[in-house]
Amino acid sequence: MAPDVDSTATRLRHQLTARLADDGWLRSPAWRAAVESVPRHEFVRRFYRETDAPGLTTWAPVTPELSGVKEWLQRAYADETLVTQFGGREIDWNDPKPISGAHPTSSSTLPALVVRMLEELQVHDGMKVLEIGTGTGYSTALMCHRLAPGRVTSIETDPDVAARARDALNRCGYAPRLVVGDGLAGDPEGAPYDRTIATCGVRHVPCAWVRQTRPGGLILATLRGWMRSLGLVRLTVGHDERAEGRFIAGDPSFMIARQQDAPESLGVIPAPDDGISRSTPYGPDVLTSAGSGFVAQLAMPGARFFSMPADDGTPCTYVLNATDESFAVLTRKTPKNNEENEEWEEWNVRQGGPVALWDVVENALGAWRAAGSPMPTEFGITVTAEDQRVWLGSPDGPNWRLPVPAEAGGGPE
Ligand SMILES: C[S@@+](CC[C@H](N)C(=O)[O-])C[C@H]1O[C@@H](n2cnc3c(N)ncnc32)[C@H](O)[C@@H]1O
Repeated sequence: MAPDVDSTATRLRHQLTARLADDGWLRSPAWRAAVESVPRHEFVRRFYRETDAPGLTTWAPVTPELSGVKEWLQRAYADETLVTQFGGREIDWNDPKPISGAHPTSSSTLPALVVRMLEELQVHDGMKVLEIGTGTGYSTALMCHRLAPGRVTSIETDPDVAARARDALNRCGYAPRLVVGDGLAGDPEGAPYDRTIATCGVRHVPCAWVRQTRPGGLILATLRGWMRSLGLVRLTVGHDERAEGRFIAGDPSFMIARQQDAPESLGVIPAPDDGISRSTPYGPDVLTSAGSGFVAQLAMPGARFFSMPADDGTPCTYVLNATDESFAVLTRKTPKNNEENEEWEEWNVRQGGPVALWDVVENALGAWRAAGSPMPTEFGITVTAEDQRVWLGSPDGPNWRLPVPAEAGGGPE
């Protein structure tokens, strides 16, 4: 016999709430009441879950019809990210198949991250909140429960996603102001806001968010680059389009705002004799390790990397800058003899183009190591109308410019 949806959902929702509280993410009674009340399953009637199949990341479809009501509800109330769109295209739910190696473009975020961000938003009764990235509408609904729908505006760039979220919110009795459009422009009509929260990642903090958040208000967003996420920042808005704050966590990661996604082409792969070679103590692992990867992302905001053998079979890591064709190619140095020795730990870099990318990375890593290799939470960010900088320690410490395009008030990337 199929389980009763409402009573099963209520029981599972209470279990999820207890788990989020036990894990320390859900701390305040008001947000706890919201998580206990908002029926997540209404926002994820159909979704894809990540499987543990080896190889390329694979997602499997979950609906009440395909999986049974019990499994669908259990997964809807698991602390998991549930993907609802890939590659910006709607899923054909008439015949859903497992999907591999695709690019998720909309989801219901991991509940632990949703509540962690809502707690960090430091809202009080009566505040007005702007959310960028409505997605399924679940986080919008939590805010409606906490603050009242009339205090919540949410912007979604994808019209199909926005329409589904509107339906789900209406089914649950919430009617916040929903805007379909590019959230990077904010919502001038509804401004000023007390709080601005983004559930898509951004390469820089849009000046519109700073203008539209009242002085003393907060902006909470994950910054990211094309190589990796930089983490969660909370900025306090000042006067004269200025905002400043710190990274409050290094691990959260969101899908990038669609308008800021990396160009499809990685760029031109340099020929084997292009560029100038030298030794370097740093190999490609500095791009993937937690602290050094954060610094490398700051140092090379326009870069991406991939590993591929050269024509002669030598394993190479290519670091390519999409904006100006600068490149760095990393290879292990050939050992002087065939025995294993420390020579293997040395790397060779071949660089070319207008910016010596690996020099820039080495300088940034030098400053970071001189400061004791601090975690992302030791970094902060200052946003002005002229530029945006991430700094280490304090605003006058070592700093790196974020890529703000000229039309958004920045200099050349
Ligand atoms: C991770 S999902 C949001 C999760 C959502 N808050 C929830 O609880 O379901 C990110 C969403 O941001 C949307 N998005 C991406 N770029 C955007 C932009 N420039 N403006 C508004 N929404 C955007 C995506 O279409 C996607 O639906």
